[in-house]
Amino acid sequence: MARKDTTYVCSECGGAFPRWSGRCPNCQEWNALEEVRTGPSRRGRGDVAAARPVRLDQIEVQPHVRLLTDIPEFDRVLGGGVLSGSTVLLGGEPGIGKSTILLQALGTMAARGVRCLYVSCEESPSQVKMRAERIGLDQSSLAVAADTSVEGILALLAAEPPQVAVVDSIQRVIAQDLDSAPGSLRQVSTCATALTEAAKKGGIALFLVGHVTKQGLIAGPRALEHLVDTVLYFDSEQFQSLRILRAAKNRFGAVNEIGVFEMTGDGLREVRNPSELFLAERDESATGSVVMPAMEGSRALLVEIQALVGPGAYATPERKASGVDYRRFSMMVSVLERQAGLELGRSDAFVNVAGGVRVVEPAADLPLVLALASSFRDQPFPADAVAVGEVGLGGEVRAVSRIEERLKEAAKLGFTRAAVPARNAPAAKRLVRQVHPVQNLAQAIRLLGARPREGGAQQ
Ligand code: TYD
Ligand code: MG
Repeated sequence: MARKDTTYVCSECGGAFPRWSGRCPNCQEWNALEEVRTGPSRRGRGDVAAARPVRLDQIEVQPHVRLLTDIPEFDRVLGGGVLSGSTVLLGGEPGIGKSTILLQALGTMAARGVRCLYVSCEESPSQVKMRAERIGLDQSSLAVAADTSVEGILALLAAEPPQVAVVDSIQRVIAQDLDSAPGSLRQVSTCATALTEAAKKGGIALFLVGHVTKQGLIAGPRALEHLVDTVLYFDSEQFQSLRILRAAKNRFGAVNEIGVFEMTGDGLREVRNPSELFLAERDESATGSVVMPAMEGSRALLVEIQALVGPGAYATPERKASGVDYRRFSMMVSVLERQAGLELGRSDAFVNVAGGVRVVEPAADLPLVLALASSFRDQPFPADAVAVGEVGLGGEVRAVSRIEERLKEAAKLGFTRAAVPARNAPAAKRLVRQVHPVQNLAQAIRLLGARPREGGAQQ
């Protein structure tokens, strides 16, 4: 029988259970539950000093300073630089560039006179130096330490408190007095808690690096996400040098911002005009391709939505979506069938967003249905047009937010036409030469295979 003061915590998802089992009831991972002693409940014990409530106006607020990394793509995802006293978890697969971007950020900050400390738990100082040389960093001002014990790192932070610190990676840090293995949930969360506390007390902006497993979780503790203020993930399309940085959680900023980088021979370089890059390999005459002005956080980005619809080889048609929400995609397939009479029921259908971008907003509905219909009917969507709009279950096309910013970006890249929801049309007309207001799916599908009209008429 399970003892009352013991819980079993999954090292993959962080779920806690009263009983041990071979497979985590939450994430289904085998052999992931670890025994954690919680000790007798402190509640109800007479000798515990209760925290006294304090009136709000008596609480002192520590002045928080935002420090810029001087890498604008990074600063924007952080919510305008990194906040002193806060902890940022940077996750990503091994080899994606976590150490590189943090070393670059710390290098430029240190060169500006910010006190920085890079604690390397995986690599020796000479390996860090070699990377610094490769990316051409000013080496005169950045301090590097190699340590894996949390006590040692805490002592370093206390001895000469830096303004910004990196611990690379949290999975390698160990607390000596715990008997759990390095990288286990207990070790990682104990160490992360201690470091986060130290950062808060000392007003240090702390970056923790966390490796992500193939399932997309930060290896070991997903639970780590709750301990920190900001969680960023570094992602890439396989075999491409493009890297996308996303905020999954941000106590001090927006979560849907993305930063786009390219891994080069001498470090990560920012991609200042990602729309251009995402559209670089587009085949303009191809069917099943529709360009959409998407909003990624505060920024408009042009992305190409690609669809491939073909006769199914098996009784059950195959459906796959990457870069768009799968439920939204299934819904759009049904809406196309019911409201536009396209018989997709037996067809295989695949959807992809080129460049590894994810578009989750409903404004992607219209480009999505147009791409599907374009591939199904083998009629291209006009190459000089973009499409944006939400599609309802009745096939009606609904207005989207921030049409001006979206179409400004489209116009900047040379698009002269736009298929937009009818209610967005008046605003759209100020930004592109030709606007196609659409009220429903049937109207939208009529745009497929059509030639641009002469004279740039606006209806
Ligand atoms: P790294 O930052 O070590 O990844 P992580 O810390 O996420 O594990 O990046 C390692 C990869 O990036 C490695 O495959 C080499 C490559 N790289 C470059 O292509 N150019 C560079 O300038 C650097 C520093 C690394
Ligand atoms: Mg690394």
